[in-house]
Amino acid sequence: MRERTRIKLWSVGGGKGGVGKSIFTLGLGICLAQMGKKVILIDGDLGGANLHTLIGVRYPQVTLEDFLLRKVSRLEDIVLKTQFDNIGLICGADDILGAANPTYTQKIRLIQQIEDMPADFVLLDLGAGTSFNTLDLFNFSAGKIVVFTSQVTSLQNAYGFIKSALYRKLSRDYSKDEDVVNFLYQMGTKDTEVDLHSIRDLIEHLSSEPDKKVRLQRSLAEFQLFLLINMVKSNQDLKSAEIIQTVCRDFLSLEPQVLGHLAYDPAVETAVNQMTPFPIFQKKGKAAASLKAIASEFLVSNRLAPVMSTRAAPSPAF
Ligand SMILES: Nc1ncnc2c1ncn2[C@@H]1O[C@H](COP(=O)(O)OP(=O)(O)O)[C@@H](O)[C@H]1O
Ligand SMILES: [Mg+2]
Repeated sequence: MRERTRIKLWSVGGGKGGVGKSIFTLGLGICLAQMGKKVILIDGDLGGANLHTLIGVRYPQVTLEDFLLRKVSRLEDIVLKTQFDNIGLICGADDILGAANPTYTQKIRLIQQIEDMPADFVLLDLGAGTSFNTLDLFNFSAGKIVVFTSQVTSLQNAYGFIKSALYRKLSRDYSKDEDVVNFLYQMGTKDTEVDLHSIRDLIEHLSSEPDKKVRLQRSLAEFQLFLLINMVKSNQDLKSAEIIQTVCRDFLSLEPQVLGHLAYDPAVETAVNQMTPFPIFQKKGKAAASLKAIASEFLVSNRLAPVMSTRAAPSPAF
């Protein structure tokens, strides 16, 4: 029997800096809060935290660092009130090596407490790059959003980010299976004993071991991704999502869905400079309008809910 539940924790990643991860996280949070939902934003950019600036907090008194270093035991106690109704903020850790490099146990503790927080939605804004910390936080979140623009470098980084996150997940899921871990390492390198180039090849390779094959397909089905195209100036820009979808399908056997897009809007930059969230700065701007449509999906749509099943969910790619 299948049941659908709403996802509480959403991570926003994308590999490249400056593509609008923080802008989107904040904008979505503001819209959901305006729709009456309790939202907590977390700055998960360990090393380059700036979400507080975007929402108008100049000097955060407590940050995620206080929780990670156990100066504060409950995550709830470092949620700052903001000037906006229904929105709380957990500020990012400073660029202090120790704090910016939490252990696996610290990350698990963080995620467990996030699940217990008194909020309808928790939005986690991730940093750029593919460090293990960023990938783990992304993988621990049931909701996974990848932000990119139509620029080639952004598309490359977005795909690289998705691939790294998936490999990290599979390496963890199969840490005790030397065979699969070896194949994951070999994939993409030329001199392999077996001709392996994609996850599809790996699945075919596992045909003689149906249990393993089904398990792998289940892991892939769990890895549900949503794509957000930012700074859209033309219909052509929207097509960049198809590029990501194609490479994900061909090489990773994943089927990411398009969540939506944000129009390019000069008002966003002005809002940043005024330390005001852009949907508040210019309610009827182009970017704000597209964001509202996305936020509505979070409230009504089953499309954004994971499918929980005791049976193996077959991957549509096979
Ligand atoms: N939709 C948009 N339209 C115009 N400018 C944007 C838009 N989204 C982001 N920007 C600009 O890009 C900058 C970087 O965005 P930011 O969210 O900080 O990137 P990231 O978090 O991915 O590093 C913002 O300061 C803003 O000036
Ligand atoms: Mg950012």
